[in-house]
Amino acid sequence: MSDRLRDYGTIRATQDSPILVTGGAGFIGSNFVLDWLAGDRGALVNLDKLTYAGNPANLASVQNIHRYTFVHGDICDSTLVAELFEKHRPRAVIHFAAESHVDRSILRPEAFLKTNVDGTFTLLQAARSYHDSLAGEEQKRFRFLHVSTDEVYGTLSPEDPAFHEETPYAPNSPYAASKAASDHLVRAWVHTYGLPAIVTNCSNNYGPYQFPEKLIPLMIANALQGKALPVYGDGLQVRDWLYVGDHTSALRAVLERGRIGETYNIGGGNQRSNLEVVTMVCELLDELVPKSAFRPHLQLVKYVTDRPGHDRRYAIDARKLEGELGWRPNESFETGLRKTVEWYLENTAWVDSVTSGAYQQWMEQNYSAREPGNATTVETRGAVDAGKGAR
Ligand code: NAD
Ligand code: TYD
Repeated sequence: MSDRLRDYGTIRATQDSPILVTGGAGFIGSNFVLDWLAGDRGALVNLDKLTYAGNPANLASVQNIHRYTFVHGDICDSTLVAELFEKHRPRAVIHFAAESHVDRSILRPEAFLKTNVDGTFTLLQAARSYHDSLAGEEQKRFRFLHVSTDEVYGTLSPEDPAFHEETPYAPNSPYAASKAASDHLVRAWVHTYGLPAIVTNCSNNYGPYQFPEKLIPLMIANALQGKALPVYGDGLQVRDWLYVGDHTSALRAVLERGRIGETYNIGGGNQRSNLEVVTMVCELLDELVPKSAFRPHLQLVKYVTDRPGHDRRYAIDARKLEGELGWRPNESFETGLRKTVEWYLENTAWVDSVTSGAYQQWMEQNYSAREPGNATTVETRGAVDAGKGAR
């Protein structure tokens, strides 16, 4: 057994067995961990490599809770992963760990194949032999919940119906391809080895602790500093936004009541064009930071060269999850976005801490080569209305 595991007390595989979370120091993972530990839901072990996207500060408020154990490590480390199963005897795995940013996957796809494909394979193998070693009730209740994305389904035109669980996979970016591969591995481990796994495919999340490389926190962070707000292409690409707390509640429902071998799509029914999202962020900042020197923040929008292979539209049909498991999102896009902007305004120290040297290098790498687009000012209403028409 490796040294980093020796210090932890042994937990038997009883009703009190923990769940094992991977990638719990990232955006969705840390929201899941915080929500889990806020309720009376048992112990949780968090395995995270702490890449640029993982931040232990997200979990500072729970680090001394006895039900919480943090393990710094890689899901590709088969020895460590096997030891974790043996030591903690989890009742379930919730697998978030991944490389998750499309733009990074375009510039450097290697890490996406390593973590998202090899890492998931390593975890599945360890979960399979652990599951085989269990008996009776313990074996019956074990679950492997694989957290995935709607991007595996590819892109929609404005008239297409939303993605449903039977939509054929058609991934277009290295990120989406690596997640699609991992979903297929999970499916095969269910069918071939009887691993009791479930896959969820969720739409774009937003909320507290999202790394400011993704659209919404990037726009907030840049606008507060008076920096350009880079909108790719014409800004009329559509995403279906879900508040992160609604994603974590859906995952708990799937974990407790989802059917083995099934896929559940998760989404909030909030389709918005990127330009519409940026406009709403700017208007919230105008209201919440009335003394800002950069008002109206919308003047900061700069159209830049589009992302290669940019998917035009995502939309999720979540009726299976709603009908079978009775899940509903709590937040509308308006309430969730307001909460999110307020969180970033109250947590500028968190933003400063994650936008260090490596972040500046990423910004330089991703944005400096992008040419200005055709439009240099935003014709707000016309453009936003055009985005709405795309739904
Ligand atoms: P994130 O990039 O914010 O966090 C990823 C976490 O995984 C980080 O804490 C990182 O340190 C950890 N990690 C990365 N490689 C690892 C490895 N080899 N071993 C152990 N830990 C490792 O990602 P996120 O946005 O929180 O997404 C979490 C999961 O949800 C991903 O699987 C992603 O595909 C999926 N998802 C994300 C969204 C979204 O909008 N963000 C939507 C649907 C699904
Ligand atoms: P992102 O947050 O990276 O999520 P995803 O690519 O997984 O959907 O991007 C959301 C949308 O915002 C996507 O259409 C790309 C666009 N976008 C910009 O226009 N400018 C940016 O600087 C970023 C990061 C994204």
